[in-house]
Amino acid sequence: MAAFRRLLLAFSFVSVTMLAAATNITEILDAYPEYSEFNDLLSRTKVADEINSREPVTVCVLPNGGLSSYTGKYPLSVVKSILSLHVLLDYFDGPKLHKISEGSILSTTLYQTTGNSDGKLGFVNITVLRGGKVGFGSGIPGSPLDSSYTKSVKQVPYNVSVIEISQAIAPAGILTAAPAASDVNITGLLVKAGCKNFAALIVSTGVLKVYESAVDNGLTIFAPNDEAFKAADAPDLTTLTNAELVSILQYHALAAYSPIGTLKESKDKILTTLATNGAGKYALGVTTDGDSVSLDTGVDISRIASTVLDSTPLCIFTVDSILLPVELYGKPPSPAPAPAPETSPSPSPAADAPAPESAAAPAPVLSPPAPPNSSPDGAPSEGPTADSQNSTSDNAGGVLEAPALMKMVLTGAVSVFACVLLS
Ligand SMILES: *[C@@H]1O[C@H](CO)[C@@H](O)[C@H](O)[C@H]1NC(C)=O
Ligand SMILES: *[C@@H]1O[C@H](CO)[C@@H](O)[C@H](O)[C@H]1NC(C)=O
Ligand SMILES: *[C@@H]1O[C@H](CO)[C@@H](O)[C@H](O)[C@H]1NC(C)=O
Ligand SMILES: *[C@@H]1O[C@H](CO)[C@@H](O)[C@H](O)[C@H]1NC(C)=O
Ligand SMILES: *[C@@H]1O[C@H](CO)[C@@H](O)[C@H](O)[C@H]1NC(C)=O
Repeated sequence: MAAFRRLLLAFSFVSVTMLAAATNITEILDAYPEYSEFNDLLSRTKVADEINSREPVTVCVLPNGGLSSYTGKYPLSVVKSILSLHVLLDYFDGPKLHKISEGSILSTTLYQTTGNSDGKLGFVNITVLRGGKVGFGSGIPGSPLDSSYTKSVKQVPYNVSVIEISQAIAPAGILTAAPAASDVNITGLLVKAGCKNFAALIVSTGVLKVYESAVDNGLTIFAPNDEAFKAADAPDLTTLTNAELVSILQYHALAAYSPIGTLKESKDKILTTLATNGAGKYALGVTTDGDSVSLDTGVDISRIASTVLDSTPLCIFTVDSILLPVELYGKPPSPAPAPAPETSPSPSPAADAPAPESAAAPAPVLSPPAPPNSSPDGAPSEGPTADSQNSTSDNAGGVLEAPALMKMVLTGAVSVFACVLLS
C-alpha cells in the first residue's frame, strides 16, 4: 500500500509538472506592449504554437515597427518565414550570448525545420564583436551581422528565453522562398508525395475545387498515402454513394491553416472538417505521442506520416490510413473479436460539460466507473442504447471527447487521492 501511495503521489506531481512546463509565448509577450506587433504576428502565422511546443527555445523579438518594412510588402507566408528565423532552437540569455565559445556560432532556427530551407538559410550567425557587442545575422556565409542583441526580456531557465535584437534578420533567400498558396498545384504535390489515389479521387469527385476555393482562408489537407489504399483493412470506397465519397474526401481537410505545432496544441480538442455539417458531425480529434501526431476519428486512429507542404495559408500532410468518419463507419469495419459489452456515449456533453460516467471510448483500461468524487454534478447516466451508429447528432463529439474526459477523470481522481493521503 505504501508503494501504491508513492505511485499515486508521483503520478499527481508528474501531471502538475507537465502543466507548469507548458509555454505560452503569447501570454509572456502580452506583458510587453512594446512587442505587441511581433506578438500578434506570432499568433496570426501560428509560429506561436510552434514555439509553445518546443524547448529549449529562444525568441528574438523586435520592438513595434521592426517588421513593418516586410509586413506591408510580403504575403503572410514570407512573414512567417522571417519570424521562424527569429526562433532559435537553443537557450540563449545575456550571459550565455557573451560567453559563446570561439566567439561565433551558427544556431539552428525554426525555419530550418520547415523543409523549405536551403544550405545555411535556416541558421543564424551569432558573433561576439569587439567591445562585447553581440551581432546577429543570417547563417549564409558572408552575410552582414547587422542586427545586435539589445536586451534580455524574459527567461525561464533553461527552456524559454525572450531577447530583443535591434533589427530583423531577413536574407534575400527567405523573401522569395514561398510560392503563393493559390499558385500551388495541390494534385501535383500529392502525386509527388506518393498520394496518387487520393489525388485522383479529389479530381474525379470535384472536391479539388472545394479545396481550392478554401485555400485563401486557410486549409489543411490530410492525404492518405497510396499504401493506405492498399491496406488489408482499407474500406471499399466503391460501395459509397457519390455524396458519401464527397463527404469522406472533405473529411480529410480542415478549413484552417494548422501546421504541426498547431495540431499538437489542439490535442484533446475537437476539430471540425470541411465535411462538418452540424455540431460534432464529421469531427476529428488529435492525439500526440512525443513528436508523433495522430488523428482520432472515433472509429480509428491515423498517424500523420509526413509534411508535404507548410506554407501559410496551406498545409498538406500525408496520413498512413484513410480517415473513417463515425457518420459512415460508426463501427470498426471488421468486427473486433468478442467485443466487450458496450455502453453508449451519453448524448449531449459539450466540450466543458461534466464527465459522463461511462463512454464508448476505445480504452477498456479506463472503463471502470470513475469514483463519485470526480463527477461532482452527478452526470446523468444514460441507459445503453442498442446501436451507437445511428444515435443522436452529438454522437461523434461524445466518442471523440471520451478519451480526453477519461484522462481528466483519472487525473482528478488521482489528485483527490493524493490530497487525501497528504492531509
Ligand atoms: C524545462 O524543461 C524540462 C525538460 O522538458 C522540464 O523537465 C522542466 O520542468 C522545464 N522547466 C521549467 C521551469 O519549465
Ligand atoms: C495563451 O495565452 C493567450 C493570451 O493570454 C490565450 O488567449 C491563449 O488561449 C493561450 N494559449 C494556450 C495554448 O493556452
Ligand atoms: C559569422 O559571420 C562572420 C562574419 O560574416 C564570419 O566571419 C563567421 O565565420 C561566421 N561564423 C560562423 C560560425 O559561421
Ligand atoms: C498539376 O499537376 C498535375 C499532376 O502532376 C498535372 O496533371 C496538372 O496539369 C498540373 N496542373 C497545373 C495547373 O499545372
Ligand atoms: C443510419 O441512418 C441512415 C440515414 O439516416 C440510414 O440510411 C441507415 O440505414 C441507418 N443505419 C442503421 C444501421 O440504422
